[in-house]
Amino acid sequence: MSDSHTLEHIHENMLKLKMFSSEKIIDSQLEQAVSRSLSTTEMLDSILDYEVKSRRTTAIDTRMKLSGIPVRKTLEEFDLSFQPSIERTLFDDLRTLRFIHNADNLILLGPPGVGKSHLAIGYGIAAIEAGFSVYYVTSVAMIDKLKKANSRGTLEFALKTLGKFKVLIIDEIGYLPMDKEGAHLFFQLVSRRYEKGTTIFTSNKSFSEWGETLGDNIIAAAVLDRILHHSITMNIKGESYRLKSRRKTGLTYPPPGGSA
Ligand SMILES: Nc1ncnc2c1ncn2[C@@H]1O[C@H](COP(=O)(O)OP(=O)(O)O)[C@@H](O)[C@H]1O
Ligand SMILES: [Mg+2]
Repeated sequence: MSDSHTLEHIHENMLKLKMFSSEKIIDSQLEQAVSRSLSTTEMLDSILDYEVKSRRTTAIDTRMKLSGIPVRKTLEEFDLSFQPSIERTLFDDLRTLRFIHNADNLILLGPPGVGKSHLAIGYGIAAIEAGFSVYYVTSVAMIDKLKKANSRGTLEFALKTLGKFKVLIIDEIGYLPMDKEGAHLFFQLVSRRYEKGTTIFTSNKSFSEWGETLGDNIIAAAVLDRILHHSITMNIKGESYRLKSRRKTGLTYPPPGGSA
């Protein structure tokens, strides 16, 4: 076979093997290999390495798009020194993602602005980068989704879908109280995910207030019983980061000396 025929054959096989990224650059890679006098082993290594890396990037991009994460917030961007109530050992231990391997839940509690959503998303992105499937939803949107599914007779499918993500982030529990149907659906979802995957919850309400949030003490107790069985709680007792940035610009809230 002539060189050009061989090259054509390589292209064909790469496409059959779905090595789409490498196929696009194989010609220049081969030229470079010659000009840099790479050995055959080195050349093969560099081609395969390129394909593996680009597949990983594509997979991360896809999981990121599917995750519904509204804004990119990373753990690297999180200023731990601003929030002394978060222990560095816990923050770092969570970064190993062992809790996800163990299907433990993570519950982030604290007042508004302390970084609950930032951390939930940060650990979510770390999980996506490590190869886990992640889905983000606010508690209001989730209840809405489940209610719609319930009325259409597709609840089982919706629960299955939300059940299959290795990590589910349910943000903002407690900002709006749930009605009876909402609380019941929430319980069903929690039961479905129990011991199967990690759910990251954020809430501005302490556990003792979840009865009020769910509108039913018995359901709240049943929900908490399952959520807390294998879980880590991070109780953030700090100041709002939003306030800090506003204070920097001279706008304080509540106004000094005034009542909010
Ligand atoms: N410790 C922190 N370091 C860096 N940014 C932070 C920190 N805490 C909060 N933020 C930022 O402040 C804003 C409010 O945080 P957020 O996570 O939405 O708070 P919460 O969900 O607790 O109400 C976001 O833009 C977030 O990225
Ligand atoms: Mg939030």
